[in-house]
Amino acid sequence: MASPVNVVVTGAAGQIGYALLFRIASGHLLGEDTPVRLRLLEIPQAVKAAEGTALELEDGAFELLQGVDVYDDATQAFDGANVGLLVGARPRSKGMERADLLEANGGIFKPQGEALNGAADDVKVLVVGNPANTNALIAASNSDVPKDRFTAMTRLDHNRALAQLANKFGVGVGQISKMTIWGNHSASQYPDVSNVLIDGKPVADQIDQTWLTDEFIPRVAKRGAEIIEVRGASSAASAAAAAIDHVYTWVNGTRENDWTSAAIVSDGSYGVPEGLVSSFPVTAKDGKWEIVQGLDISDFSRERIDASTNELAEEREAVKKLGLV
Ligand code: NAI
Repeated sequence: MASPVNVVVTGAAGQIGYALLFRIASGHLLGEDTPVRLRLLEIPQAVKAAEGTALELEDGAFELLQGVDVYDDATQAFDGANVGLLVGARPRSKGMERADLLEANGGIFKPQGEALNGAADDVKVLVVGNPANTNALIAASNSDVPKDRFTAMTRLDHNRALAQLANKFGVGVGQISKMTIWGNHSASQYPDVSNVLIDGKPVADQIDQTWLTDEFIPRVAKRGAEIIEVRGASSAASAAAAAIDHVYTWVNGTRENDWTSAAIVSDGSYGVPEGLVSSFPVTAKDGKWEIVQGLDISDFSRERIDASTNELAEEREAVKKLGLV
């Protein structure tokens, strides 16, 4: 068997962590030939709960799982890490202003960015903890790890959009390609159907503008709130599934004639200010993301991409003022 891949999961005792860890141990993150060693990072108060999860992982008798270690120290947890799933974050509490939220998360993602300096040369980082895009920016800005290794998760939004389209057209999600999420993982995101194909054929001209603006876009962008309303708790298993999809695609590549959505550091493509961690249509090959180039952007799309990336630029200004980037 190959040597194991070291996968760090922060916030391992949380609800996404609980859904995520067992799928990683089953081989869904990297492929069913790749052994893994899990490293669970938690805050000291939650270490005991993470140790409980580690006991259950042991009881799963997963053939690919080569060991589980629990840490409350980021430097130790990330030492030699090949994959970092940064799930643990500080949630917004009642009455908390955005600047306070960004500052509290800066207190987590700045030291984690620094701790990632001890990771393996090939480390891949996915930030799930919100505000994911700006948390990824903070981690990347405080690390010597190349910026193209830092990503934030918009795959859940992408998957939500695929599911809504599949319902609308009465097809399976696997028949749909070239869906795009642009911008921030927030209500300002832009789920863009302009290039969507079903069974390889364009469908944009069959999509009614009112359905698009009044139903589809807000439903996808506010799906997180809908889940909280109905489930009584925020999305967990679907978020874990999207994190698995994101890393699996990063490592194993996108399908032929298709792309996916991921928030990566902007190179200025499509007028998205350079350096922002923004969602784009991307392909993955040989462990590298590439932004799909040459797409026509309508006025309708331009306005929405700008609105979401302006929000990201404002978040960057706010964390700059706090000395976090
Ligand atoms: P949770 O509250 O159940 O778990 C979070 C865990 O993180 C807790 O166990 C906490 O102790 C831990 N934690 C906090 N600070 C930490 C630190 N410095 N180091 C290590 N662990 C730390 O939350 P849940 O439901 O698991 O969600 C986690 C994050 O994912 C939240 O920020 C949530 O908003 C975000 N999220 C992002 C999505 C996306 O699409 N990007 C989708 C769904 C959730």
